[in-house]
Amino acid sequence: MLRLENAGFCYGRNEVVTDISFSLGKGEFAVLLGENGAGKSTLCRLCGGLVKPSSGRVINGGQDTRTAKASLLARNTGFLFQNPDRQICRNTIREEIMFGLEYALDDGDERERRCDEMLDLFSLDGSADPFNMSRGERQKTALASVLARRPSLLILDEPTTGLDYRECVTIMEAVSSLHREGTAVLMITHDMEVAADFAVRALVLNRGRLAADGPIRTIMKDRAIMEAASLLPAQIPSLAMALGLDGVFTLDEMYAAASS
Ligand SMILES: Nc1ncnc2c1ncn2[C@@H]1O[C@H](COP(=O)(O)OP(=O)(O)OP(=O)(O)O)[C@@H](O)[C@H]1O
Ligand SMILES: [Mg+2]
Repeated sequence: MLRLENAGFCYGRNEVVTDISFSLGKGEFAVLLGENGAGKSTLCRLCGGLVKPSSGRVINGGQDTRTAKASLLARNTGFLFQNPDRQICRNTIREEIMFGLEYALDDGDERERRCDEMLDLFSLDGSADPFNMSRGERQKTALASVLARRPSLLILDEPTTGLDYRECVTIMEAVSSLHREGTAVLMITHDMEVAADFAVRALVLNRGRLAADGPIRTIMKDRAIMEAASLLPAQIPSLAMALGLDGVFTLDEMYAAASS
């Protein structure tokens, strides 16, 4: 699905992503964690083939991103930018969603059907102008146009930042539902609750280097890794650690531990 081999990236002479190797398989759900400026967005752009590695290799859907056609990479990968306004380029929400589908699907009826499905899922008015809407609505529009294509790899750069609780739930439920159908997800987030609720695996980036890669349960409990990357664990694992409760990561596990 996705494989990085000693991949690095430089802005000019400044190397901001260094010697990264990992693979992401079909159906995995991984979060990419790290402090501001750690290189997370740059690493995601490398994974999606939006920028080419300065060193090493990135293989996306079996294609080396240095030589693959952008259209082929775009068929495999759905990419949500940190700022939805960098993504949205059409005058209505329907046009925006249809624009993404034009390149992914030949069947016009199926395009219409998928577009209606997304408008319904996100409760969006297809005739509305995205630029007159709230940040949350624009984020939903950008995500709708990505999800409509049903990519096999979904790369999300802070999909819930700046959204209220309900918008966050809508977006994460839509991502989860595609994930349940087998899509691999790589998601940047600063929200450790969202990370703990949805991801199985965590990658930690510290000053452009991969500082950890493993089960999120293990990584959130690893003080050395978390502190080095200026991260705090989610509330339940944090409370479990303070109380000395082993193996408690979810609310259900906390209930079970408290009532035993
Ligand atoms: N277009 C650019 N030109 C030069 N340097 C850049 C550019 N974009 C990012 N950088 C630098 O690269 C480094 C990594 O940036 P990046 O945006 O990947 O970090 P990030 O982990 O996504 O941060 P954040 O959590 O704030 O979104 C930072 O030092 C940043 O200043
Ligand atoms: Mg970023």
